[in-house]
Amino acid sequence: MRPKIAAGNWKMNGTAAALTELHSLATGLPENPPQVVICPPSTLLFRATDATHGSPIQIGAQDCHTEGAGAYTGDISATMVADSGATHVILGHSERRDAHRETDADVQAKTCAAWAAGLTAIVCIGESEAERDADQTLDVIGAQLDGSLPDAVDAENTVIAYEPIWAIGTGKVPSIAQIEEVHDFMRARLTDRFGAEIGNALPLLYGGSVKAANAVEIFAVENVDGALVGGASLKAEDFAPIVAALAQS
Ligand code: PGA
Repeated sequence: MRPKIAAGNWKMNGTAAALTELHSLATGLPENPPQVVICPPSTLLFRATDATHGSPIQIGAQDCHTEGAGAYTGDISATMVADSGATHVILGHSERRDAHRETDADVQAKTCAAWAAGLTAIVCIGESEAERDADQTLDVIGAQLDGSLPDAVDAENTVIAYEPIWAIGTGKVPSIAQIEEVHDFMRARLTDRFGAEIGNALPLLYGGSVKAANAVEIFAVENVDGALVGGASLKAEDFAPIVAALAQS
């Protein structure tokens, strides 16, 4: 049985006032909640782990450097993320691949750094709209999976998030058949490379305009084990119904 995971990516949103959302979310969790991981901006990591102490909510960062320490102005290391009490880190989000020119090789190196600090890596992949239109989606996803994941992947240290770039923050969502096709493809690619035991145990999240209104049908897809949610994770009142839908899926 794979874990169900509802992950929230706050991106560059949230000051100290947003910590109340974590209290509200913790109070409203369903019985038998799925794993819930909130990834606030790095300025809030320590306070977020304090605010969720004693609740099942886990905290993650949105990026980390490949090195543990050094002269890298503005960056944070996986060691620092772990020091905050966080347990996860999002790596290779399309906004970082795009705005910070991160390559698959960078994402792979960051994944190793995350593991070395004891963190679970949430590795993001996804095709652009032009790639989808050109019928290249599965080629792109296959190449990103191959290039971004180190050989030592296992189900405890890695979560994979499929996020079509054209669905992020746009309100556009792939059809259920399209989500199913990519998730089935990822499952097969992972079992090929890592063997059936690890490949079948790796959690696969869908991300891109997930909301309470579409969560139930997305979570019904066999190889969808949860979601990586941006906009709808900022307010507990929006995220709680997604968590509840996952708990019931
Ligand atoms: P969105 O973002 O839910 O706002 O589309 C998802 C993400 O970028 O992780």
